[in-house]
Amino acid sequence: MISVRTLSKRHGDRQILQDVSADVAKGETIAIVGPSGGGKSTLLRCLNYLETFDGGSVEIAGFNLRPGMAGKDARTLRAMRARVGMVFQQFNLFPHLSAIDNITLAPRMVKREAKDAAETRALELLEKVGLRDRSGAFPHELSGGQQQRVAIARALAQQPEVMLFDEPTSALDPEMRDDVMEVMKDLAKGGMTMLVVTHEMQFAHDIATRVWVIDKGTIAEDGPPSQVVDNPKTDVAREFFGRIRK
Ligand SMILES: Nc1ncnc2c1ncn2[C@@H]1O[C@H](COP(=O)(O)OP(=O)(O)O)[C@@H](O)[C@H]1O
Ligand SMILES: [Mg+2]
Repeated sequence: MISVRTLSKRHGDRQILQDVSADVAKGETIAIVGPSGGGKSTLLRCLNYLETFDGGSVEIAGFNLRPGMAGKDARTLRAMRARVGMVFQQFNLFPHLSAIDNITLAPRMVKREAKDAAETRALELLEKVGLRDRSGAFPHELSGGQQQRVAIARALAQQPEVMLFDEPTSALDPEMRDDVMEVMKDLAKGGMTMLVVTHEMQFAHDIATRVWVIDKGTIAEDGPPSQVVDNPKTDVAREFFGRIRK
């Protein structure tokens, strides 16, 4: 489903990602952890070309990404992004659109779906994230946790093969994180291929099939939770999980 080969990214003369190689099979859930500034967001953003990169390649959902595509390959990148959903820490809903209109916008504009069909599907997705009764609510009428669940439903409306999450619960009050985590747990159990940058230990330990520890632009550890979380080999992973466990 995803194959990353010697991916490299610089900002000026700073190396942000250095020869990152990794594979993700269909249906896997990868928890990505590591110290701030290590390159987690940059890696995730390279995977759907929100960031360009300088070297290497990415195969994702049947698309082949390489340096120099920005601008030239807009159609390919748009098609790819419909197959690779992304959810951010800040929910980025359109403030002037209701929950249901946020969800139907891309299917109607990009895929030219009929209004009725798009809305039927949007209501199913709202049901799935526990918000069917809030379809008419605007973002400012929803809590952060509810907005994030609408954002997840919006990404799912494009019927992605892969979902990328960058700290989806970090901006939320603790009591709202569980509802969002519950939705992600259901997605993982339903067989969605997911990469999730997270500080939620329970998710990394109990839900992820594999954990990547990213540090200084490389994957310092890659293995099942029983190995990486319970018996970390590197100092950075030991320090990270030690601190999170408090
Ligand atoms: N636009 C940019 N210009 C220069 N440096 C950047 C830019 N974006 C990110 N970086 C640097 O890249 C490194 C990795 O950042 P990031 O991927 O956001 O890390 P993480 O998500 O693990 O906290 C950091 O050192 C950050 O300062
Ligand atoms: Mg980040």
